[in-house]
Amino acid sequence: MKLRLDKYLADMGCGTRSQVKKEISRGSVLVNGRPARRPEEKIDIESDCVEFCGRGVTYAEYEYYMLNKPAGVVSATEDPREQTVLELITGSQRNDLFPVGRLDKDTEGLLLITNDGQLAHRLLSPKRHVDKVYTAVVRGRADEEDVRRFREGLDIGDEKPALPAQLRILSAGEYSETEVTIHEGRFHQVKRMFQAVGKEVVFLKRLRMGALTLDPGLAPGEYRKLTEEELRSLKTEEC
Ligand code: URA
Repeated sequence: MKLRLDKYLADMGCGTRSQVKKEISRGSVLVNGRPARRPEEKIDIESDCVEFCGRGVTYAEYEYYMLNKPAGVVSATEDPREQTVLELITGSQRNDLFPVGRLDKDTEGLLLITNDGQLAHRLLSPKRHVDKVYTAVVRGRADEEDVRRFREGLDIGDEKPALPAQLRILSAGEYSETEVTIHEGRFHQVKRMFQAVGKEVVFLKRLRMGALTLDPGLAPGEYRKLTEEELRSLKTEEC
């Protein structure tokens, strides 16, 4: 793929298009060892070697991060008041990253952050029914009747009932720990499903989305790049 030099540098966080243009005119940008003179010069991202102010700049078209979202942070690209999930991704220079879907402010767990719109679209498409698995702690004793009602598809106040979902009870008591698998991504879906069976969610954490499983080594707030294998599975999974 070929790109204009000023776009290449701006995409890789070297500055705005006008800042990098200034550096090009100052001779601080080398392409294959020679000072570049024109911002519109075409760069082959596979074979050309670009240096900006003495440092090599490799072009990464897409970036993919797995974040263990902590509670208290919003799933947005920017927000005037709240800390956003993108502010936690400090190791990227890209300015076009976004979270794939949303977790509520108080929900923790797996969130994919990328700039790959096509993959995001595939994962979020309502037609594809990508599985999402959550741990939910609820107030009250979860029982087999709840399991049955989740399996049949609950009325959660929308035009259509929620699709059948799987509820596993891990422990039951004054508070119950459960695992829920849903196949859609409606607003507050898990909380509203429990509300429909008379229970309040007091803790919610996403463990899996399609082929992608939260790395148990990531503490809340930590992130890492996806491995090649994870990316391959995400891109090729059957839904
Ligand atoms: N369901 C919810 O209720 N909240 C989330 O954050 C995710 C799924």
